[in-house]
Amino acid sequence: MQTAPDYNNPKLILETADLEPSHVVWRSPSNLAIVKYWGKHGNQLPRNPSLSLTLETAFTMTRLDYKAKESADTNIDLQLFFHDERNEAFEERVKKYFSGLTDIFPFLRQISMSINTVNSFPHSSGIASSASAMSALALCLCSLEHELFNTLEDDAAFDQKASYIARLGSGSASRSIFPGMSVWGQTSEVEGSSDYFAVPFEDKVHANFKGMRDDILIVHSGTKSVSSSAGHSLMEANPFAEPRYQQANRNMMNLVSAVQKGDWETFGKIAEQEALTLHALMMSSSNGYLLMKPNSIKIMEMVREYRKETGHQVYFSLDAGPNVHLLYPEEIIHEVRSFVEDQLAPLCEERYYIEDYMGEGPVQQ
Ligand code: DP6
Repeated sequence: MQTAPDYNNPKLILETADLEPSHVVWRSPSNLAIVKYWGKHGNQLPRNPSLSLTLETAFTMTRLDYKAKESADTNIDLQLFFHDERNEAFEERVKKYFSGLTDIFPFLRQISMSINTVNSFPHSSGIASSASAMSALALCLCSLEHELFNTLEDDAAFDQKASYIARLGSGSASRSIFPGMSVWGQTSEVEGSSDYFAVPFEDKVHANFKGMRDDILIVHSGTKSVSSSAGHSLMEANPFAEPRYQQANRNMMNLVSAVQKGDWETFGKIAEQEALTLHALMMSSSNGYLLMKPNSIKIMEMVREYRKETGHQVYFSLDAGPNVHLLYPEEIIHEVRSFVEDQLAPLCEERYYIEDYMGEGPVQQ
């Protein structure tokens, strides 16, 4: 049985009201799950382990300004700006998130905060932003604790706490804390893995995967019709839930081994099966829903055709949306670029795609 870390800390209280106003800034990337997290229980705990690729060019940059509160009330006092505009919906979500963290960071009740956040990818591009946004916020909170109390000196302890906090904001955000690849959820395949936080996996990644490319083909932009949170809860009554969790565990076992051996074929086979399973689960839920578009399917078929014809290791994945991720080794970037430009870009909205790749993880600015 894994034990939950206890981060509650009543000592993190400011003793004096004369606090120099200051700020912390973090840039944190999005990530793409190869084995997917789909289904959760309790307080943001996953039904199965997941493994993801940390991205680089799709990121959120978050600046948190803080000063001592003028009033003695104990509410969370914050304003949130998204691309320089006050965003009340996101502000409410973050206030609720921070209110749930006051046993871990009691000082949050004592300060006034202003948060400015921007995404590197265009608003409404259809890229899931909760992983990058929530991990950037979690990192800011851990840096804030460090600045105010001189804690979290040790990098590994800092990252683990940031991942734990990010998970409480959005499950997939727990994995964005680490460079390369990361694993969240307990599995016998990865020592130290936990349902409570993600762990780094970069040092296990075979050279064949270094610099892996991920072109994100934007088939359709705009917000999706069913949120991931609603999707997770539909898994509770999904008739295929149990066999799915078993499949995820098997895929995790084979993926962990393929990543260490440098086996692209097994990696790609699992990536595609996981993507299609994710969407099959959405379709088979009660009030089942469809997030793929006709062009998503066309692209996936063309990728398989291209692979058959050329023998190149090019595979697809999907997130909870219609956009298709194209995964392939860095060595064949020139060949694949022509394929994308000539054949796949015409199936994208305004020919738009993002050239991303295995990234270095979050950076404090
Ligand atoms: C399909 O992490 O967005 O992207 O924990 O409710 O915020 P919440 O869900 P979220 O779900 C992500 C689901 C996924 C697969 C994955 O990233 O593992």
